[in-house]
Amino acid sequence: MSETGKVEESPTEWLQGEGWLRTPPHGVRLGGAGVGTVADGHAANPGGLYDRLYAGAAAAGPRAEVLDGARLRARRRVVAELGPALQADDVAQGELSRRVQAVVDAALRDEKVVLSGPESAQVARSVLDDVLGFGPIDRFLRDPTVSEIMVNGPSRVYVERHGRIVPTRVSFDDEAHLRHVAARLVGEAGRHVDESSPMVDARLSDGSRVNAIYPPLAVGGPFVTVRKFAPEAYTVADLVAMGTLTPQVAAFLEACVAGRANIVIAGGASTGKTTLLNVLSSFVDQDERIITIEDAKELQLRQPHVVALEARPVNSEGKGEVTIRDLLRNALRMRPDRIIIGECRSGETLDMLQAMNTGHDGSLTTVHANGPRDTLSRLETMTLMAGYDLPVKAVREQMASALDLVVHLARTRSGERYVAAVAEVGGMEGEVVVLQDVYTRTSPAPAPGGVPGGLRPTGTRPRLAERLAHRGVVVEPWLFEPSAQGEHPPAHGEVPAAGLWAAGANARWWP
Ligand SMILES: Nc1ncnc2c1ncn2[C@@H]1O[C@H](COP(=O)(O)OP(=O)(O)OP(=O)(O)O)[C@@H](O)[C@H]1O
Ligand SMILES: [Mg+2]
Repeated sequence: MSETGKVEESPTEWLQGEGWLRTPPHGVRLGGAGVGTVADGHAANPGGLYDRLYAGAAAAGPRAEVLDGARLRARRRVVAELGPALQADDVAQGELSRRVQAVVDAALRDEKVVLSGPESAQVARSVLDDVLGFGPIDRFLRDPTVSEIMVNGPSRVYVERHGRIVPTRVSFDDEAHLRHVAARLVGEAGRHVDESSPMVDARLSDGSRVNAIYPPLAVGGPFVTVRKFAPEAYTVADLVAMGTLTPQVAAFLEACVAGRANIVIAGGASTGKTTLLNVLSSFVDQDERIITIEDAKELQLRQPHVVALEARPVNSEGKGEVTIRDLLRNALRMRPDRIIIGECRSGETLDMLQAMNTGHDGSLTTVHANGPRDTLSRLETMTLMAGYDLPVKAVREQMASALDLVVHLARTRSGERYVAAVAEVGGMEGEVVVLQDVYTRTSPAPAPGGVPGGLRPTGTRPRLAERLAHRGVVVEPWLFEPSAQGEHPPAHGEVPAAGLWAAGANARWWP
């Protein structure tokens, strides 16, 4: 089986710190003893789709079976003895975990097979995770080295660590167990997911973003994706140190933000668009009134005067939706100095372009696109999604006059994110919007595992520089000189303090 082979190629990844684990990931239990019910009483689904998908998988090892049995019995006893207390709001969490621990200890003492100290601790931990936390993925939610958790059905859990997706050994008992945990996750955000609303986006109290999608939409699912909130947001110095951009590009972008250029950050899924948007937002002056508009709040701005707006999906009766577009219109009445839209996905693009064209300069947003030229086509398509029968040429003229810069991000196979190009949006030439590359990557594809380099000025001085100068922001010529420092990311010792970038307009940039 190729899936199995893939996991086994990197045994150390899934052996490290994954706690009690009954079987390798291919050891899916196919119904049978011990998989009857889970804590919420849902029936298991032996012979269900995921069982059929993974039928033929190897059986669990004998010791793993013992631990599994002990865990299920302990969990049943906890549910039977503590029942309603597990859901009650008036029992303190500390008190509850003490009570759960006591019942688990008693259950383990009654086990016929003697468990070693570490085995008992593993079983106790997983029961605590199950009844008080988020089951097998609880450990990843606590693990600061994990940035994303991807659950592809009950028996396939992947995590992203240091930018790389790796399979894990953990699995859920069955589909019902996974549904229970998914419901608990989205329930924490006051949302619910079930057959009647099978897709849900939610934000946990710690800021992490959760998406859950259920069968039949999710074939072999449920699928759950958690983008964990990074408590320490990346700074520009971090991005330079990681090779995402060069000091030259960082200094240029800071000048553009300080000089109120309208910037679109483009890239594929998970290429670091939101992260770069956050970093660019840090260049906005402390005195400005910033309004952020997002589907689910991810931006972490440090300025004192920030107003965050968050869209709302339809409720179960199909009502109550508040879109990014509605919020943008509202934001225009809130006297913004800057509007930052987390992501343009649809008709709000038209309103954004209009806002940019009517005095709300310095707006920032992100778009899913595969390059600067593709960004313009995406924006054009999304503008037409606003539902007005606008001539394409009129839309392009709007884009040409509204937008100043496209920053395109990409990701290597080994997980590094990097700025692939920075292009200036010029005027119109005939029916076409002019794009002028300011920085491009000149080297071939980055070596696997290597830091992507080769981001160099094309030698063209952007016309934007004149406008920035009029606004009092000095853009020094070396930023556009191909021979200047900045081709390769500097070594750690050479990275200047973030304060250099934070110095604001008219600062002497780098070095
Ligand atoms: N420059 C970077 N270097 C390394 N890792 C990064 C970088 N930028 C972002 N990441 C990591 O990549 C993941 C995705 O980042 P982010 O949310 O910014 O991407 P995105 O393009 O906005 O994704 P989406 O398409 O889901 O909106 C996060 O875990 C983040 O910590
Ligand atoms: Mg994003």
